[in-house]
Amino acid sequence: MKLLVAGGAGFIGSNFARQRLRDHGDDVVVLDKLTYAGREENFGDLLGDPGFIFIKGAIENPVAVEQAIAGCDAVVNFAAETHVDRSISDPDAFVATHAVGTYVLLEAARTAGIRYLQVSTDEVYGSIDEGSFNERSPLNPSSPYSATKAGADLLVASYHHTYGMETLICRGSNNYGPYQYPEKLIPLMVLNALAGDPLPVYGDGRQVRNWLFVEDFARGIGTVLARGAPGEAYNVGGPDECENIEVVKRILELTGRDDSLIEHVTDRPGHDRRYSLGSEKVRALGWEPELRFAAGLERTVAWYRDNAWWWEPIRSGAYRDYYARQYGRALGA
Ligand code: NAD
Ligand code: TYD
Repeated sequence: MKLLVAGGAGFIGSNFARQRLRDHGDDVVVLDKLTYAGREENFGDLLGDPGFIFIKGAIENPVAVEQAIAGCDAVVNFAAETHVDRSISDPDAFVATHAVGTYVLLEAARTAGIRYLQVSTDEVYGSIDEGSFNERSPLNPSSPYSATKAGADLLVASYHHTYGMETLICRGSNNYGPYQYPEKLIPLMVLNALAGDPLPVYGDGRQVRNWLFVEDFARGIGTVLARGAPGEAYNVGGPDECENIEVVKRILELTGRDDSLIEHVTDRPGHDRRYSLGSEKVRALGWEPELRFAAGLERTVAWYRDNAWWWEPIRSGAYRDYYARQYGRALGA
C-alpha cells in the first residue's frame, strides 16, 4: 500500500511513517510544509529508504497536494497546528490549515477515489468531570485549536454523507514519546528538568489528561485505516489518566531533580479540566495500547536524555523567543 502521510514531519506523523515503512512494508509519501513543529530531523533515518518520499508543501496548496497524492492508495492527515496556547495567542493558521487544508485534501482524495483518514483529538468533545466520552458524545470544543479541529471533523464526515467517500476519523488522547516538540507538557518539563530550569505548572496542576504513547496511537490509526467502517469516528484513548502535577513530579524523579523546581504560573485561559476517552469501538477492531504510562514515561525521559542532537537546536533557536513570550522569563535564566 502507498500512503500519503500529510503532516508526516511532525511528532505523531513521523512515528506513524516509520511504523508503516518498517513494520508493514508500505510506501510512504510525506507532504509537510515544515512549520516550526515540522522537522526533517524527525524522519532523517527514513530518507534513504526507497519506499519513502518527502515533498515540502502545504495541504491547502492544491498543486502540492495533486503531486503528492499521485499513485497513493489512501491519505492519512496529521497536518495541523497543534498547540492550544498558540491557538489562544494567534489563531490564524489554525483556521487556514484545519478548514481550508482539510478541504483541499478531501477534494484530492475524492477525485482520486481513495480512502481518507483524519487524525483528530479528544479535545473536540471538551472537558468532562467524570466518566469518559464515546463517539456519540456531542462535540463541545473550548479553544480555537479544538474548535477548528472539530470543524474539520464535521467536514470530513460530510464527505462520507454527501459523496459516499470512504472517510474515517481517529480521535486520540494526549500523546507523548520521542520527537515531540518541547512546547507540550511532557517534553517541556523533561528538558527543563534536565537543564535545571523551573517547571511552569499552570494553575493548581490538578488538570487530568489521558496519556497515550505515540507508537500505540500510530498502531491505532493503522488499525482504523485497515478495518474501520467508512463514515465512522473512533476514539483512541491511553490506558492511564494522570494529574499534571503528578506527571511533573514523576519527571523530576526520573531526572534526579527535586520539587523545588516546580513553579505554579498563571493558568491558561479557558483551560479544560479533564479529558477522558472510552475506546471500546477501536478495541472491537483488535487494538489495545501496549505501554502503560509509567513505563512509557521512563522510555521517553531516556530518549530525550540520549538525543540532545535532536532538541539542542530547538532550545537554542526561535523556541527561546516563544518561551520568553509564553512564560514571561528567559530559558536558562
Ligand atoms: P505536530 O505539531 O508535532 O506536527 C504537525 C505537523 O503538521 C508538522 O510537521 C507541521 O509542519 C505540519 N503542518 C502544519 N500545518 C501544515 C499545513 N498547512 N500543510 C502541511 N503541513 C502542515 O503535531 P502532532 O502532535 O504530531 O499532531 C498530529 C495530529 O494529531 C494533529 O492533527 C493533532 O491534532 C492530532 N493529535 C495530537 C495529539 C497530541 O497529543 N499531540 C493528540 C491527539 C491528536
Ligand atoms: P499540552 O501538552 O499543551 O496539551 P493539551 O493542552 O492539548 O492537553 O498541556 C497538557 C496539560 O499540561 C494541560 O492541562 C496544560 C498543562 N501545561 C502546564 O501546566 N504547563 C505548561 O507549560 C504546559 C505546556 C502545559
